[in-house]
Amino acid sequence: MSQQHRDLIERDRKVTFHASTHLRDFAHGDAPGRVITGGKGIHIVDKDGREFIDGFAGLYCVNIGYGRTEVAEAIYQQALELSYYHTYVGHSNEPQIALSEKIIELAGPGMSKVYYGLGGSDANETQLKIVRYYNNVLGRPQKKKVISRQRGYHGSGLATGSLTGLKAFHDQFDLPLAGILHTEAPYYYHRAAEQEGMSEREFSQYCAKKLEEMILAEGPDTVAAFIGEPVLGTGGIVPPPEGYWEAIQVVLAKYDVLLIADEVVCGFGRIGADFGSHFYGIKPDLITVAKGLTSAYQPLSGVIVGERVWNVLEQGTGQYGPIGHGWTYSGHALGCAAALANLAIIEREGLTQNAAETGAYLQQQMQAAFGDHPIVGNVRGVGMLAALEFSVDPARRKHFDAAHKVGARIAAAALDEDLIARAMPQGDILGFAPPLIATRAEVDEIVARAERAVNKVTDQLVREGVIKASMSVS
Ligand SMILES: Cc1ncc(COP(=O)(O)O)c(C=O)c1O
Repeated sequence: MSQQHRDLIERDRKVTFHASTHLRDFAHGDAPGRVITGGKGIHIVDKDGREFIDGFAGLYCVNIGYGRTEVAEAIYQQALELSYYHTYVGHSNEPQIALSEKIIELAGPGMSKVYYGLGGSDANETQLKIVRYYNNVLGRPQKKKVISRQRGYHGSGLATGSLTGLKAFHDQFDLPLAGILHTEAPYYYHRAAEQEGMSEREFSQYCAKKLEEMILAEGPDTVAAFIGEPVLGTGGIVPPPEGYWEAIQVVLAKYDVLLIADEVVCGFGRIGADFGSHFYGIKPDLITVAKGLTSAYQPLSGVIVGERVWNVLEQGTGQYGPIGHGWTYSGHALGCAAALANLAIIEREGLTQNAAETGAYLQQQMQAAFGDHPIVGNVRGVGMLAALEFSVDPARRKHFDAAHKVGARIAAAALDEDLIARAMPQGDILGFAPPLIATRAEVDEIVARAERAVNKVTDQLVREGVIKASMSVS
């Protein structure tokens, strides 16, 4: 690493509180840093000019890839005209109007209005407020509880971190808050064996039964909403088992529970459909979008409100006056301009279709490379989302002892190969979510680098006596 790069990191250690970072180790120089200076296509470049394949598209968000001057130009042109004016009390800007039209068109029948925020967490915060307001207007003040899932990810604020079903987001923060519950994760690989060899469909029925039991135990008149990602993301990149959403929706309809689809990762093409909801036949009342909406060229999120809820919101303001909800930056003109340019690129270049086709190739190549690998228990994914779950004994689906940090070590080994893949936060899982522009040749390169990284750590584990010598891959 160059002196210049080291100096920058030293300055950073002194003054920046980084997200999801070991604060002490980073501040005291015991955890690595890196300064990213540029990017092009699926690659990013650091201060020393070292180039990495970004196999996770930032945080599954840079869907159109890096360095798209067309988006920069759209932001610039909008900034020359109008960077900002608030959108309170009916004020608007032209990109916001055009963007709302586009989102409603893409979201499909039944969707009515879009409310804008800056990130996925604040959008889900808006969802929670809408759900409360909705039931108050309907005269059901006791119907307020929200059911999320274990391993769901919906943000890291107080309320949205409560929706998130991951331990690290709760411990030491006194979360989850009251009224937010977590039901069974649709994680067939983990649970099917324990459930005595259930088929996927049976496991989906089992998840629906657990949800129904929870609703009945809490009292249906106290349960307001259910929130879920079409594909579990940060909880492990887990596509739902067959029939899952169908079974869940039957229960929600039975007890008049609103469905919030958190499309922050799946929305705008990632799994080969405009929305994960379209892919899985989900009919949400409310949809959360962020990330792929702008491909992260500007911070922007949205809450898409379906007609059923919208009608009640209108009724509420008729009764109580203007709604008490708004951010200074709602509908920010630069964010909306970036989103429009981004969505135009996705449409023009057929990136949703590419996510379906090249995504299918990614799944195929992952299976070919890792399907029989001695330390890979599960290869899974859909579209441009994929994951490898490592196992000390794949036949028995046994996890490695967490102390071996296998997932993190493999992510570090991938980095040595100039490949960014993400060690998912709970379990030994390596996640992939390349930009939707990735070509077959780039997929081949991602898989080849990942294979070298997994093999390297496999051999280290043999040398350390963690796994048997017969599992060696060299
Ligand atoms: C499904 C989902 N919802 C919400 C969020 C929170 O978004 P943000 O980090 O922009 O607040 C994320 C972030 O990864 C996410 O994956």
